[in-house]
Amino acid sequence: MQQLVYLNGEFIPKDQARISVMDRGFLFGDGVYEVLPAFGGKLFRLKEHVNRLNNSLNSIYITPPYSHTEWEDILTQLVKLQATTADSYIYLQITRGAAAVRDHVIPPQISPTIFAMANPIPTTNAANNARGIGAITRNDFRWERCDIKAITLLANVLLRQEAMEAGTTEAILIRDGQAVEGAASNLFIVRSGVMITPPTSNYLLPGITRDLILELAAVNNIPHKVEPIAAADLTQAEEIWMTSSVREIMPVIHLDGVRVGMGIPGPHWQHINKLYQSFKANVRLS
Ligand SMILES: Cc1ncc(COP(=O)(O)O)c(C=O)c1O
Repeated sequence: MQQLVYLNGEFIPKDQARISVMDRGFLFGDGVYEVLPAFGGKLFRLKEHVNRLNNSLNSIYITPPYSHTEWEDILTQLVKLQATTADSYIYLQITRGAAAVRDHVIPPQISPTIFAMANPIPTTNAANNARGIGAITRNDFRWERCDIKAITLLANVLLRQEAMEAGTTEAILIRDGQAVEGAASNLFIVRSGVMITPPTSNYLLPGITRDLILELAAVNNIPHKVEPIAAADLTQAEEIWMTSSVREIMPVIHLDGVRVGMGIPGPHWQHINKLYQSFKANVRLS
């Protein structure tokens, strides 16, 4: 069966989905997106994802098109329509829409293009995390509104490509001497047994996985702090993790070719990952 996607109010085969060449997402990267998993058909942290989506939309002057309940209906249906029962992740994107002429200035009358698709979560993720990943550090040359989940991702694309070409999985981005996040993930370190992640700001995306980890740490009395991480702290860290909704909690076992801690996923990662996996299992059963 052909994959069905959601486009502007309809579920249609992916090959038949069309958008205009005048769409400002295509011409300017003028749009925002979200990525959220569904485990056993249950949308994971939908409320948090819709809140972040609405923040992104409001930041770029697009009126949020749907309520939480409307999103829930659309996305639950989208997941159900897939030919697979595998866990999936939803990519949803809203652009400003198609304009009559190409002009940077936002036209007063324009309706957004709303698109969503669901794809299976790679089954290799869990094994990759159990082994640990490599990362590189790079200068953060993105813009100053990294809190907006914008589709304009050229810098992130180039940085992930560099990481891949260096034989690693992720690039940790350094701005003004501070390690802020990954090219497509948030950053945690463990120092003297304390889990640390940088505070949210315009220099990083407020990750849904990050927030859940902080919640789990608080509930389970795991020592943790939200404070800036200096680039130099990375070399002293006992553990480094990168987090995202699809790739979950990735332990970094070598950074810039140097072993992190013992060079294996550490005990703090084992602990938080276990809590995360049981949180997921409960959502699946809910
Ligand atoms: C730049 C960036 N930071 C952080 C994240 C992690 O966010 P989340 O945990 O909501 O997936 C992502 C996710 O893709 C990202 O692209």
